[in-house]
Amino acid sequence: MDNRPIVFLDSGIGGLPYCRNFVSRNPGEPVVYVADRAYFPYGERDREDLRGILRDLTGLLRAREDPKMLILACNTATVSALPFLREQFPRLPFVGTVPAVKPAVLGSKTRRVGVLGTRRTVDDPYIAELAARYGGGCSIVPVAAPELVDFVEYRYAGAGAEQRRRAVLPYVERFRSSGADAVVLGCTHFLFLLEEFREAAAPDIAVYDSVDGITRRVESLLDGEGRRAGTGAAAFRRFYVRRAGPPSPGPEGDSLRVWADEMGFEMENL
Ligand code: DGL
Repeated sequence: MDNRPIVFLDSGIGGLPYCRNFVSRNPGEPVVYVADRAYFPYGERDREDLRGILRDLTGLLRAREDPKMLILACNTATVSALPFLREQFPRLPFVGTVPAVKPAVLGSKTRRVGVLGTRRTVDDPYIAELAARYGGGCSIVPVAAPELVDFVEYRYAGAGAEQRRRAVLPYVERFRSSGADAVVLGCTHFLFLLEEFREAAAPDIAVYDSVDGITRRVESLLDGEGRRAGTGAAAFRRFYVRRAGPPSPGPEGDSLRVWADEMGFEMENL
């Protein structure tokens, strides 16, 4: 039994779909969400820079929360820094989120698979390695979408259905014209637009994500290592924000508050 919290970490709100999915199935587990807005967007940084940022943030979180597990609910952080963080913090179990390339490759008939992510993720050799490992001759069509990350982070909460639909269309069309019949959402922010992607991609393109897979992975680690919280543990929920400056009254502050409230998490600056 272990009543310490599980941390879900992202540069912003991208990890919330993972956190929400986990909490809905595991309501008794203490959970902390971390939005690292001070360094958003991760996808525009280089690998060394990101490793330093994530090492310092993990150190801070360990000192403050002593988590029993840390979920990198961010593909960019995972492909850039997961092995490095495991080396730096050998006693802290990490779970990473990597683009769901394997199922997409297995499902593709045209043998062309689109991967939509941040610039950092699609440029990382890890994607090519994944494709080589599971690809069997399948070619990858990598597309970086920093403007879509920005849309989700700052504008999604206030956007209407039509704006959300329009935000995904150019990407789906790009994959369609490349002949891809499978597209991997390789950035956690894009999960907010999963329905819009699926609708625009149907019927010829299947869309893949890793939300359920991550929840199952965390559950099996908790069970396997006897780290479930005790039934008497009050569920602890906190939404930490690391900011570059004081909270602004503009869209940045508002959108984070909207999400913390929606999750029923207490919001605090880190
Ligand atoms: N949500 C992050 C990911 O999954 C990245 C967003 C960013 O660029 O900060 O890659």
